[in-house]
Amino acid sequence: MQIEILTLFPQMFQSLLSGGVIKRALDREVVRINIRNIRDFTHNKHHTVDDSPYGGGAGMVLKPEPIFEAVEAVKLEIANENGADAVPVILLTPQGRFFSQQVALELSKYRHLIFICGHYEGVDERVCEHLVTDEISIGDYVLSGGELAAMVVVDGVVRLVPGALGSEDSTKDDSHATGLLEYPQYTRPPVYRGWAVPEVLLSGNHAQITKWHREQSIIRTLERRPDLLEKANLSSEERRFIDRSRQSR
Ligand code: 6GU
Repeated sequence: MQIEILTLFPQMFQSLLSGGVIKRALDREVVRINIRNIRDFTHNKHHTVDDSPYGGGAGMVLKPEPIFEAVEAVKLEIANENGADAVPVILLTPQGRFFSQQVALELSKYRHLIFICGHYEGVDERVCEHLVTDEISIGDYVLSGGELAAMVVVDGVVRLVPGALGSEDSTKDDSHATGLLEYPQYTRPPVYRGWAVPEVLLSGNHAQITKWHREQSIIRTLERRPDLLEKANLSSEERRFIDRSRQSR
């Protein structure tokens, strides 16, 4: 996978690229990530990227020309190296659709992704209408720019690309991967300050352990995020278990 990030603050991405899962994926050549400065695609003397909004109002708006030219340059490079494929052009904006595990999985299937980090009061609407193919938000709050959101999305997507993590199945039990929250995890020592690890986990009985994991996931989701249960993939026995737990509360 090749990811292109267009931003006015390229240095913000250094921490993303210099450690953890992303660094490992880069070292293993599972992904390539190019950070491009939108300012490099300006032609005027002062390298202006923004201007005041038509019709007045507070703040500044990102001009269309540098963003169009940056995306077109990147698309041309991709086409020359790999031939034509449909490349999503994703704008990070609080007005976008919500990022979720499902969206991460969807994006992880593409060979190329282009991210545009919005800033100031916004981006000229012609960028959204005629260049961008997808708009993503990471939640109902306002960040000062799309960079942190882009990092959240890139991290969530890259860890799903085959080969990015140590073992292939380590994402399958993730919170949200199953539509449920993840079960609680324990490691040594078996008793810490008098608090014991649940018996079943020390039993070596794998069928029992799998059953316990599933129950814990369901109980946790019921207690913390009951909204997730509507869409979760549950057996009819599990549905009955939930109905009983709800009635007894
Ligand atoms: Cl994608 N951008 C900005 N600026 N703020 C946000 C966001 C994105 N998602 C939530 N808040």
